[in-house]
Amino acid sequence: MGVGGFRDRESRNRPNPLTSPRRRPGYSRRSSRSGRTIAEQLAFLEALLAEGAHNLCDNPRVPTHDEITDALSAVIDPELRKNVVELGMVRSIDLRDGGRVDVVLSLASADSPVRQQYQAVVGQELSKLEGVNEVNVGFDVLSAAEKKALQQRLGRSELPKGALAAVKNVICVGSGKGGVGKSTVTTNLTAALYAQGKRAAALDADVWGYSLPRMFGVHGKPSVSPQRKILPLVAHGGPGVISIEFFLSEEDQAITWRGPMLHKAIRQFLEDVAWGELDYLLIDLPPGTGDVSMTLAQLLPQARFVIVTTPQPAAQKVAKRAAESARRFDLELAGVIENMSGFTAPTGERFTIFGEGGGQELADELDVPLLGKIPISEELRIGADEGRPLVLEDPDAPASQAIYHAARGLIAATPQELPVLQGPSGPPLKPAPAPAPPAAPVTGTALPMSPGPGPQRTPPATAPAKTPRATPPGGTPLPLAG
Ligand SMILES: Nc1ncnc2c1ncn2[C@@H]1O[C@H](COP(=O)(O)OP(=O)(O)O)[C@@H](O)[C@H]1O
Ligand SMILES: [Mg+2]
Repeated sequence: MGVGGFRDRESRNRPNPLTSPRRRPGYSRRSSRSGRTIAEQLAFLEALLAEGAHNLCDNPRVPTHDEITDALSAVIDPELRKNVVELGMVRSIDLRDGGRVDVVLSLASADSPVRQQYQAVVGQELSKLEGVNEVNVGFDVLSAAEKKALQQRLGRSELPKGALAAVKNVICVGSGKGGVGKSTVTTNLTAALYAQGKRAAALDADVWGYSLPRMFGVHGKPSVSPQRKILPLVAHGGPGVISIEFFLSEEDQAITWRGPMLHKAIRQFLEDVAWGELDYLLIDLPPGTGDVSMTLAQLLPQARFVIVTTPQPAAQKVAKRAAESARRFDLELAGVIENMSGFTAPTGERFTIFGEGGGQELADELDVPLLGKIPISEELRIGADEGRPLVLEDPDAPASQAIYHAARGLIAATPQELPVLQGPSGPPLKPAPAPAPPAAPVTGTALPMSPGPGPQRTPPATAPAKTPRATPPGGTPLPLAG
């Protein structure tokens, strides 16, 4: 863990002549241990004195606590874009003999992906200080109260009371890593739930790698309701969908948002979208663990996680970290879905391309149900690429069957009664805002949208491109343009 090495190893291990026996009790023992002759000892002492004189010029002092704190304020959290001192993440600073500095930083979660970056950058910054020869960076985890305080310092708060009150179940689909099929599962699971008579909608929280519009085959610009709420676009088969893509000025526009922007986007999608009455809101999560979980735990304490993994150990390990991170933030796990579980050739021969059994193992380790095992299926991939969810195109295909099985498992595992969401569990961070007047402007980060977040404009005369149809997802008429 140490980030020593700012002096070469040999010179670091050599006794530092600057530290007199009074300042470093071990020193005299160390020199007498050598069993040198008197002449050798004299020569040694001479050499030490020479180095000491040299060091006295170079390193006349050790840095103070304040100087170290000052240097640490150059260390910026890559997600939160603030320095670690300002964020209250510096747990302790210890100055040791020999120019060693031990720093402990507190992170939101033990598996924070920024750990290694911190180790390197803290070492770099502190090594610039005169007299610092070695830096050790340790980590601990913020307590629940400290996390809450950090959220407040970041200006993050819970959703207002009543937001999503008509959504019975929020299901986050996560995996920790990309490419395992989260979006494919989110899309098909939403469509399957809808086809089973449940009011289901999908929110694309992967603002960097958004893919729900492509997979649902729905593109365009959302309209705004008379209540100034964004209306989801309606995908083939009925479910409402919201994705950052609907708010970009051009397709495939690069998104360079960082943590705080992600938080704001997710918040706005939850708060400012007219989701209406839903049995299930599925959220396709971006890859990552701690920071995403932290945002969701703050905004959606009632959310449950479905963890997607492929069968191989590497994916399973990352998925486990995502699951553990969710649990650390008190989010409930609904189950595991194993994707790409094997390929059955037309001859009937089965190939376990990504191994076997990882989903079951993960479910057992986490003590949650394995909701389904989705085979590798070319039709599923083609359906995802072409915007036609396979569960609707060919409900009897083996991959569709596996997804329907998972949907039934999810239905069995989630309460069907409307829970009290955002209930009075402790005082809110700040007084709950009064209910928005009908013509209140859309709050949060302004997203470029049609007809525009400003004063209400008349919806465009033509229907948004490729919006398949205006079937209301929850029986509420959607005043979609056109
Ligand atoms: N079971 C499967 N069989 C075949 N292709 C799949 C399967 N699941 C996902 N894919 C394909 O793999 C790619 C990555 O899936 P995607 O859902 O985008 O992953 P993620 O959202 O986790 O990054 C996509 O092209 C998708 O169509
Ligand atoms: Mg995805």
